[in-house]
Amino acid sequence: MDLLIRMLLTLIFPAAIGRAETSGYKSCAPDKNCVSYDLCNEGIFVDGHFYPDRSRTLLDEQHCHYMEKCCNVNETLSASSEINYNDYLGHLKQCGGRLDLWFHLNPMGYKKQKANFGEFPWLVAIYGADGYLCSGVLITPLAVLTAAHCVQGETASDLRLVAGEWDAAVQLEPLPHQERTVTELMLHPNYTQSPAGHNLALLLLDPDASFSLTPHVQVICLPPPHIIYNFSQCFVAGWRRSDFNANETLPKRWPLYVLPRDQCAVRLRPAILGRRFALNDTLLCTGGDKDDFVCSDMGAIPLMCPLAGSDDRFVLAGLLARATRCDGPQLLGIYSNVKFYRRWIDHTLRERDQDIRQYMV
Ligand SMILES: *[C@@H]1O[C@H](CO)[C@@H](O)[C@H](O)[C@H]1NC(C)=O
Ligand SMILES: *[C@@H]1O[C@H](CO)[C@@H](O)[C@H](O)[C@H]1NC(C)=O
Ligand SMILES: *[C@@H]1O[C@H](CO)[C@@H](O)[C@H](O)[C@H]1NC(C)=O
Ligand SMILES: *[C@@H]1O[C@H](CO)[C@@H](O)[C@H](O)[C@H]1NC(C)=O
Repeated sequence: MDLLIRMLLTLIFPAAIGRAETSGYKSCAPDKNCVSYDLCNEGIFVDGHFYPDRSRTLLDEQHCHYMEKCCNVNETLSASSEINYNDYLGHLKQCGGRLDLWFHLNPMGYKKQKANFGEFPWLVAIYGADGYLCSGVLITPLAVLTAAHCVQGETASDLRLVAGEWDAAVQLEPLPHQERTVTELMLHPNYTQSPAGHNLALLLLDPDASFSLTPHVQVICLPPPHIIYNFSQCFVAGWRRSDFNANETLPKRWPLYVLPRDQCAVRLRPAILGRRFALNDTLLCTGGDKDDFVCSDMGAIPLMCPLAGSDDRFVLAGLLARATRCDGPQLLGIYSNVKFYRRWIDHTLRERDQDIRQYMV
């Protein structure tokens, strides 16, 4: 994909090549500046195909931020030639899709739990009056879904939603993030704090200030009611409160698998809910390897599973409902089962004239 787009860009914007915008860039060597990878046209042609140079050299490491390349001035694309990615995004017309355009961006030594720029383009950072609260997901350009415990006690007007964000410590991403305010904060009407039940909330935007769908801001699909996840390999991802105020504030991700219902009940009963607990469809459980990211206090994060038959489109299977248990040999995660809540979500959004087909598979 990356290659294809680069070729098309080279064909479509030939005039932009070689026109360096020198002002505003940091010099990293004679006739070289630190610029965004997307604007650096260094690379090679093989069999008529252009391969952009994504390698990192010592010059890059020593002088440029990890999102930038030390690029020849004469091979720097003009920043003002607005690269129109949207023309190439056929498969993003459906929910849950993403592009792998920017997966080469990587800070040094950040490998194990990394989420890439644009990897989960529906991921939204939610801030309250006192800073970052938790992560949610975009389900329409006007609606974000998260866990109720994340936003309970907040007022809608104090909330800020940031989509298209990656490294929250800088603003050097290839495309800018989008920030919006919330006009309506709705906890699920039957939400109970302790024990946490129906732990979901919808954050609704002003219809005149929706998010714009772009290559790095997309909506995730909601699961159809009949979906079965037994042992599906899924991911959780999101920012962690404790990672803010550092040089890098990147979202993390971790693979997990969804337990079939009977196994979930067997593990939940002794672990958390007591003998009399009867599992119903409002919760689902995940198993997987323990890790300091998933075992830390994360607030709320989405559980995202690939659609059957596609490893590149995702549905929102769950939202973290209770603290993950990490005292057994494997972790046990407990999530609100989003498919159970489709009626509430659909109904709430339809009442507000939103087009819910946007998140339908
Ligand atoms: C840019 O300059 C470098 C070094 O001076 C040279 O090797 C390269 O061919 C030039 N590229 C273009 C597109 O002019
Ligand atoms: C909340 O619980 C009541 C009583 O069980 C039920 O009738 C109602 O449908 C529930 N509300 C939603 C939105 O699910
Ligand atoms: C998957 O889940 C369904 C419904 O809960 C169950 O009937 C089926 O046996 C499960 N399959 C596996 C492989 O566990
Ligand atoms: C963060 O950045 C500062 C200033 O650039 C640097 O001195 C410090 O070593 C960095 N800290 C870490 C943990 O990388």
